[in-house]
Amino acid sequence: MARKLIVIANWKMGPSGYKKARELFISEKAKAKKYRKVKTVLCPQSVLLSEFSKMQNGSVSLGAQDVSFAEGGSFTGEFSASLLRDIGVSFVIVGHSERRALGETDDAVSRKLGLAVKNGITPILCVGERERDIHGEYLSILRQQLFLSLSGIQRKDLSKIIVAYEPIWAIGKTADDAVTPDKLHQTSLFIKKMLLERYGVSPSSLPAIIYGGSVEPDNAEELISDGNVEGFLVGHASLDAGDFGEILKSVNG
Ligand code: PGA
Repeated sequence: MARKLIVIANWKMGPSGYKKARELFISEKAKAKKYRKVKTVLCPQSVLLSEFSKMQNGSVSLGAQDVSFAEGGSFTGEFSASLLRDIGVSFVIVGHSERRALGETDDAVSRKLGLAVKNGITPILCVGERERDIHGEYLSILRQQLFLSLSGIQRKDLSKIIVAYEPIWAIGKTADDAVTPDKLHQTSLFIKKMLLERYGVSPSSLPAIIYGGSVEPDNAEELISDGNVEGFLVGHASLDAGDFGEILKSVNG
C-alpha cells in the first residue's frame, strides 16, 4: 500500500508571539482536517510543544525542530528524545542546514537520528548541497552527507526515517528560485539509488523522500506531480495558514 503523502510545517522561530502561534496552530489544524489524504505535521518552537500536543486532535501531528544528541545528562539547554515522546511529539527535524550552519556535525546528526528512532519518533533527516555545479560535484557532497548522517542507523530502521532533500540555495527564496520538477525528480532518484546500493533493501523499505526549499502555493502542484517525492518540508509558506492550506490542497489532489 502506498504511503500517505506528508506535509511538514517548519515554523522556525515564527510566528512572533504566543497568541499568534496559537492562532496559527488552530487555523492550520482546521486546514489539515479538510485534506485528510495528506499527513500534516506542524513543528512550532519547542517551548510550545507540550501545550500544543494537547490540541493535536487527530488532524495534525506534532514535530520538534531539533532534539539532543544525548540520551540525558549534564547538557544545559538540551532536551531529550524520550521527553519529546512522553509529551506526544511524533516527528523531529534533524540536521537542518540552519542547525548545521550553527556547528551541528554529521556525527551529532547520526546520534540524534538513532535516539529518535529508539524512542519511536520519526526523524526527518535534512540533506542538501550549498550550490549546484555543472560537473555534478554536488552529488558526491550529497552522498557523503547522507551516508555520514545515517551511519548510526541499521538497515531495518531505514524505513522509519524521512529524508528531506533541502538544497541550501533554494531555502527562504520564492517559488521561482526553487528546484524544478525535473531536477527534483533526478535528485530523488539519485538518493534512492544510493540508499538501495548501500543498504541492499527492497524499494518498499526505502525512507520517504520529501522536498524542502521555497515550496509555495505556486509550485506545490507541479513539484508533487512531477518531482518524484512523497511530500514537502515547508518553511516560510507555513507561517501563512492560507498559503499552507493551498499547499495541502495541491498535495491532497
Ligand atoms: P523555506 O524553508 O520553505 O522557507 O525555503 C524550508 C526549510 O528551511 O525547511
